Order: sequence, then C-alpha cells, then structure tokens
Amino acid sequence: MATASAAQSVPSVAGLPLVGNLLQFRRDRLALQDEAGRIGPIARVQMAHVPVYVISDADLAHRVLVTDADAFRKSPATRFLEPVMGDGLLLADGEHHKRHRKLLAPAFAPRRLAAYGETMVAETQAQLAMWSSGQRIELAEQMLEMTLAIAGRAMFGTDVRRDAKRVAEGLELGMRALMENQRSPVRLGYEWPLPRHLRLRRAIKILDEVVYRLIREGRARGTDSGDVLSILLLARDEQGALTDAQVRDEVMTLLLAGHETTANALTWTWYELARHPNVLARLQAEVDAAGEIHADMLATMPYNLACIEETLRLHPPAYLVDREATRAIEVGGHMLPPGALLAVSIRGIHLRSDYYADPHAFRPERFLPEAKKARPRHHYLPFGAGPRVCIGSHFALLEAQLALATMVQRVQLRVPVHVDAEPVITLRPRGGMPATVVLRALR
Ligand code: HEM
Repeated sequence: MATASAAQSVPSVAGLPLVGNLLQFRRDRLALQDEAGRIGPIARVQMAHVPVYVISDADLAHRVLVTDADAFRKSPATRFLEPVMGDGLLLADGEHHKRHRKLLAPAFAPRRLAAYGETMVAETQAQLAMWSSGQRIELAEQMLEMTLAIAGRAMFGTDVRRDAKRVAEGLELGMRALMENQRSPVRLGYEWPLPRHLRLRRAIKILDEVVYRLIREGRARGTDSGDVLSILLLARDEQGALTDAQVRDEVMTLLLAGHETTANALTWTWYELARHPNVLARLQAEVDAAGEIHADMLATMPYNLACIEETLRLHPPAYLVDREATRAIEVGGHMLPPGALLAVSIRGIHLRSDYYADPHAFRPERFLPEAKKARPRHHYLPFGAGPRVCIGSHFALLEAQLALATMVQRVQLRVPVHVDAEPVITLRPRGGMPATVVLRALR
C-alpha cells in the first residue's frame, strides 16, 4: 500500500498571507467551496492559521462519514448552535450520542411517521387557505411558518397550538440571533452582553418556559399520546429515563434541525418548478390523477418525490457537514493530525459533472426509480451518511411529498427568474423568495 503523505501536502486554495482564505470565506463561502472542489477530492483552505480540509469526493466522504466514522466527532464550528440545542443529538458525541440516538429512534419509526402524515396535510391546507389568487407572498417565510407548525404539532401533539405558536416565536427570534452571530466578522462568547446575545437569551427564556412546562405536564400524564415529546418522556434504557434538561435539548434540536431544512427544500422546489413549466405540467398531471393526498398513496406519485430529490441535489439545505479528527487518520492519501478540521461538501459532491451529466440542470428524471438504481448511492447525500445520518430524513421526505402534492393540486406560484443561494445555517434564498399565487380550479 502506498504510504500517506503529510497533511501539508494537501493541495490548497490560493489565499493571502496571514488571513489565508478567511476574506473569501466571509465574502462568498459557496464560491470558496466550489474552488476547493476544482482543486481536488481533498483541498485545504486556510481560516487564518487554521487549516480546514474540504472533501468534494463521494468515496472520500463515505470514508469520513461511514467507514472511518469513529475517527471523527462534530467540529467546534457547529458549537454556535449550542445555546439553543444544548447537548441534543446534532451536537452530541461519543457514548452520549449513541445512547440518545437509540432513545430517539422510536419517535421516527414508520408507524409513527404515518400518523404525522395527517398533520402534514392539514397544516399545508391551513397555509393554502390563507392564500388568494394574485396575492403576493414571501414564499420562504410562508414555508418556514408551515413546517414549524407541522414540527410543533408532531413534537407536542394537537392540543397545544397556542404553545406551539409561542415556541415558533422563540425559535424565530433565536434563529435570527444565531444567524447574526454566524454572519458577524467578530465572534464573541455568548456571555458578552451584545444586543444579539441579549435577544438570544430572551428567545431561550421564552422557549425554556414553554418546553419545561410541557415536560412537567407530560410527566404528570405519563402516557404515550403519539407525539415526540411523550415518546421521549417514556423512553428508558439501562441508565433509566432522560432528564428534563436532556428532553429539552432534544426537543429544541428536533425543532431547529427539522423545520428550516424542510422549508428551504420546499421553497427551492417551487423555484425550480416555476422555471421549468414542462416539469410542473408533468407533476400537475401526476398529482391531479392521484386524488386525495395522504401518506398511504405516495407510491403512486414517483415524479413528485423525484422533483423533491432533484431539488435536494441542486440546493442541499445542509450544504456541508463538519468533522474534527479525534486521532491521526489517513484521508485521500494524506495523513491528517488529531484535531484536523474537515468539511464534507455535500453540494460540491452533488454538482460534480462526473457523477451527474450537466449537473447544474434541474432534471427530476434522474430520481425516477430506474435511474436511481443505476447510480452509486453514495453520490447523493442530502441527509449525510453513516451513524450520524439525519434521523429525520423519512419525516422530511414524507412532509415534503405531502406538502408539495397538496400545494400543487391547489396553486401555481410565480417566482423571480433568478434567486441566489445564501449559506447561513442552511442554504436559503438570499433576500427571500417573493412569489405570486395563482389558484388552480378545484378538481
Ligand atoms: C430536507 C430536510 C433535511 C435535511 C436536508 C437534513 C439534513 C441533515 C444532515 C446532512 C444531517 C447530518 C449532519 C452531520 O452529519 O453532521 C442531519 C442530521 C440531523 N437531522 Fe436532519 N435534515 C432534514 C430534516 C430533518 C428533520 C425533519 C429532522 C427532525 C424532525 C431532523 C433532525 C436531525 C437531527 C436530530 C440530526 C442529528 C443526527 C445525529 O447526529 O445523529 N432533520 N440532517
């Protein structure tokens, strides 16, 4: 076997003395990611004195996320989410992560998901009921509102709508504060009394008040009412039950990780549908023929799923995942030291022309069953891979399919010709997605 060369030999993106690629990163991190991908399967970018190794190759990504997963943990780069998510699954590592992953799994079992399906359709219909023909809407915001309503109901059950609304307020406030922090050129610890940090504390106070009260009420009831919270409260293993603080962190993590990603997926799907009338026409024909939309009939709408999957390829909401090496590890022929930071570029992999012909073109046909079978599975990873693969991927795909089909039956949306992607926490449309509603005749 060839010996691995030192980490210093990883080809690097040209940068400035001292700051390296930091200014490029601040200006346009997607362009920097693209540049790293052009350099090779693994490329180094310098965040001042700290090197980050960008992986833009499906085989190497598989090594990092799956085969050698035990040599990595989440990177400190994700820690900015900690004030809201605490030690929840997304940020947890090691034994803690393993234990919590097992305890959370039953909440995402297939029979649970089917039950959330009704909520997904009902909340989409509720959103549609607010739209009239010719109305101008901010689609990205509307999708956020809808997916949060769905996540809130799945999380807390149907009888706590007012609380879910308060949680939505807190999350929105918290997310904005986290994003301001992520965007700011100066990062100070959250203990500094900056206005954005104070807003974040206010948001967390709102969220904690509601969530801890719901936890107390759930504990007093002690029954499984079908929602995620009651499942978490009843979950047991040899170490016993989760503490209130642990349940709080998991609920917050699921709410935050679960709603913005799916909202962006739906927003970008509409963007692409509006730009591709032939695709929209084929999708309309499929969903119109399907009749009433519910979880059991999704197999009859393969093109609906293909439109969503192709959108997740072109506009992956989680455009990269970060890791930190816990020991020296060989990646792509280079020996990386313990503590090395890696960024697996999901978007970079999805846009490779040797994996996908004409990779920037929107072609849902790529995701029809036969075409999917013909492609190596690891060339597509919108939900990551390995032991940390998205726990909500089935929930998200179910929600996106039910919501899209329900919307396509009722409306058509006109959106601007071109909208840029803005990588903040997820890949969202820069400046939002203004849209005009055209109601379709009821059939
Ligand atoms: C289109 C929608 C979604 C996308 C694109 C997405 C993407 C991802 C990705 C790429 C990861 C892996 C992160 C890593 O490896 O570091 C992840 C993890 C996670 N996702 Fe999702 N996600 C989506 C929806 C959801 C939903 C609906 C939920 C919950 C209801 C959820 C909850 C989580 C959690 C808790 C983790 C952490 C899993 C772990 O580390 O074990 N996600 N997601």
